[in-house]
Amino acid sequence: MSFPYQIKSFEEYLEQYKISIEQPEKFWGGVAENFTWKKKWDKVLEWNFKEPRVRWFEGAKLNITENCLDRHLADKADQPAIIWEPNDPSQKNRILSYRELYISVCRFVQVLKNNGVRKGDRVCIYMPMIPELAIAVLACARMGAIHSVVFGGFSAQSIADRIEDAKCNIVITADGGNRGPKDIRLKSVIDEALQKTSYIQKVIVCKHLGNEVSMISGRDVWWHDELAKITQDEMPAETMDAEDMLFILYTSGSTGKPKGVVHSCAGYMIYTTYSFVNVFQYKPGDIYFCTADVGWITGHSYTIYGPLCAGATTIMFEGIPSFPDAGRFWDIVDKYKVNIFYTAPTAIRSLMGFGTEPLKNKSLQSLRVLGTVGEPINEEAWHWYDENIGRHRCPIVDTWWQTETGGIMISNLAGISHGKPSYATLPLPGIIPLLVDEKGHPVPGSDAGKDGVFRRDAKGDTVSGNLCIRFPWPSIIRTTYGDHERCRLNYFATYPDLYFTGDGALRDAEGNYRITGRVDDVLNVSGHRIGTAEVENAINMYPDVVESAVVGFPHDIKGQGIYAFVTLNRQHHVSGDDKTGVSKMVNQVIGAIAKPDKIQFVSGLPKTRSGKIMRRILRKIAEGEMENLGDISTLVDPTVVEEIKAGRL
Ligand code: PRX
Repeated sequence: MSFPYQIKSFEEYLEQYKISIEQPEKFWGGVAENFTWKKKWDKVLEWNFKEPRVRWFEGAKLNITENCLDRHLADKADQPAIIWEPNDPSQKNRILSYRELYISVCRFVQVLKNNGVRKGDRVCIYMPMIPELAIAVLACARMGAIHSVVFGGFSAQSIADRIEDAKCNIVITADGGNRGPKDIRLKSVIDEALQKTSYIQKVIVCKHLGNEVSMISGRDVWWHDELAKITQDEMPAETMDAEDMLFILYTSGSTGKPKGVVHSCAGYMIYTTYSFVNVFQYKPGDIYFCTADVGWITGHSYTIYGPLCAGATTIMFEGIPSFPDAGRFWDIVDKYKVNIFYTAPTAIRSLMGFGTEPLKNKSLQSLRVLGTVGEPINEEAWHWYDENIGRHRCPIVDTWWQTETGGIMISNLAGISHGKPSYATLPLPGIIPLLVDEKGHPVPGSDAGKDGVFRRDAKGDTVSGNLCIRFPWPSIIRTTYGDHERCRLNYFATYPDLYFTGDGALRDAEGNYRITGRVDDVLNVSGHRIGTAEVENAINMYPDVVESAVVGFPHDIKGQGIYAFVTLNRQHHVSGDDKTGVSKMVNQVIGAIAKPDKIQFVSGLPKTRSGKIMRRILRKIAEGEMENLGDISTLVDPTVVEEIKAGRL
């Protein structure tokens, strides 16, 4: 399989970029010609950001799994599609060829159908990183069911909330999963979740750990028992409209509960594949390893869909970077001769802490391209990665994107455009970033697509602002499940006619973008997105809590840590148990990933006369910037600030 749309030089990038913004329909229509369609489109694009309403490839009929699987059977049936590396390196790995993956998916479609799943139904998937997770995802896509994958680290309550929001009536899970030295009992968490919601009729349980689980007759069935009833290896793919929903993935925002980001079939397929092939400069035969869990968007787009549509061999790793030792990623790289390696800055920073000892006797010669995603990469980590892993031979692509964007938006293209430490650099073709000030006015010199021409002649200094995108790309969020108004308000209402990312950014004189972090109340902890409001809601459920305020603070490894300021209605009797209690409550309501790193009990929070908590002050204190707190004279009780400063952890 060749990729006529693969960019081969910087000049070609500039040329393609220009075409993509001057003639987007021609550009994306041309890319789409390289995919398998049941019927081609009538119109490439129809859109407005007001409602918003974005429709790509209207009239087209397809199934994404025909592109991920069927089309590769002709020439890659025996090529590994998925290499699964277990948590424990002494256990046996598993390699699924494209033919085997195709058959497994076709068979599992029949299992889903036998268990009452119909096209359009929502299916909750709560599984460890094992091939069955990919099989479940692809089987849903093949039969037109909408998957909603929930990361294995979320709590029973979070799962129940997501099940209810998406109105799922089936869950696919496993008896458990391994993460480093820990066993995660996924089925027990599901059992607990299902006590909180009555939507679920069926639970399909994959045996992985082999531990005892309780099975409720009539509701719970074993994956392998159901599979044993299937006699056919083939199952035609359902015909989907281009804009039919492909999946829902929940993500945190600055307010309320996580929202279900919806992606649709055609645009998502085109954009994830296009970006995969171009950013990583994928070459047929490459072994590709993305360390992200499929519970997050990176796992959806760049462990499963993008690489498989491109016919790549993708590695799924069940474990963690530090188990059994801090050389594990590099052992995997050497074991499978990985060519492209994609991970998060937090993983790099945590491995840096172990020094170069774990790198001894690792060859790493197979590596050609390195990537990072999920949070800004600090220069130190960038250089460590470049020197110790890439050995100054491998370009590092710093890929900026979001759950809502579906695919990589701003990034250098490996070996084609230059990387610059801590800069995501340039937009991909089709992406028109724009920086705006607080009032929504474009920041002069920040527009990559002004007059339809990519500007590399911008004079003067680096400019900064809030990062927006001016024009739709194929994998843009279509809606938030069940609440379109929320989608409009969150992303399209802050600045008229722009998609607002929630991130701040700088743009240097050469047009490179540097993402500086969220400008809203969303934290990025170890590359995981966590809403401060969500954490506060969880803390407030602990008995005797009056109120709380959660802010981020710089953390050496996690990027950001969570700092919670909490008031109890019995301030003089706070004990160590309260700290544990608050932490446990967050664990129970959201999951371990949201547990605060620091909990400071205070007698009051700094508030304005209108009752608004002055987070700016708390943020500064959490960051250790105690001197420059700005004007605190508008506070009802400025003395609380002194108390909070004195008790800072
Ligand atoms: O703040 C940006 C940060 O992660 C946010 C998106 O998080 P999520 O939807 O969970 O998706 C993460 C994986 C795509 C963004 O708003 N972010 C992501 N990539 C980068 C980044 N910040 C800086 N540099 C990046 N490369």
